[in-house]
Amino acid sequence: MTVVPYKEKEGSKKAQVAEMFNNISRRYDFLNHFLSLGIDIVWRKKAVRELKEIKPKQILDIATGTGDFAIEALSLKPDKVIGVDISEGMLAMGKKKIARMKLEDKVELQMGDSEKLLFDDNTFDAVIVAFGVRNFENLEKGLADMWRVLKPGGKVVVLEFSKPTRFPMKQLYSFYFKYILPIIGRMISKDRAAYTYLPESVKAFPDGVLFTNILDRVGFKKTICKPQTFGICSIYTGIK
Ligand SMILES: C[S@@+](CC[C@H](N)C(=O)[O-])C[C@H]1O[C@@H](n2cnc3c(N)ncnc32)[C@H](O)[C@@H]1O
Repeated sequence: MTVVPYKEKEGSKKAQVAEMFNNISRRYDFLNHFLSLGIDIVWRKKAVRELKEIKPKQILDIATGTGDFAIEALSLKPDKVIGVDISEGMLAMGKKKIARMKLEDKVELQMGDSEKLLFDDNTFDAVIVAFGVRNFENLEKGLADMWRVLKPGGKVVVLEFSKPTRFPMKQLYSFYFKYILPIIGRMISKDRAAYTYLPESVKAFPDGVLFTNILDRVGFKKTICKPQTFGICSIYTGIK
């Protein structure tokens, strides 16, 4: 069954996800760092390091949100990073941040759907996504389109929550995600559903080898999963 943020409402997962991120966009950055105790920043840095060797010049950041992963990718000294997202609100916050940091010539944020990317085949040296794939309406379609716009030899890097499997992290994580995070998230974001949807969507997400299997199926080679911080999050990579 598809997990959606607002169960009582009609509308596709995509429309609901865009609505939810529009609602929480103003508090998103703060909540991200607060609820993860800042570890999300470390994870993005580690994920970007996966691209160091290939020195990508053109990078596409899918589900860019407020642009944090796109900005982090500038440490690779690319010519350009393009970020796409379906939430107007998240993009607006990201554009403000990029203007404040005077990075407009390096990072460009646009409206764009992972399942219908408006770029030619074989355009990018690297395609990256942080905490985005879990929200796709059609995961396989989104990954297949990422493969399409990547140049042959190009690399995909996906950062996504996963489920720890060992005691005591499994139990601690489950308690935090189920009972603490939704309460703090709801209080600060003022959206009653967003931080209930988060643990539910993580639970439903095919993590680990299930995810690398899908990457393989859409055409990626040499796919790898590297669990981070007791398996709370994983970095997946693959080559076209
Ligand atoms: C949790 S945020 C992640 C933002 C950012 N990548 C980060 O690391 O903070 C997930 C983002 O995925 C976007 N999203 C969900 N489905 C999408 C799709 N089909 N195409 C593009 N963006 C999508 C949402 O609008 C939201 O901004």
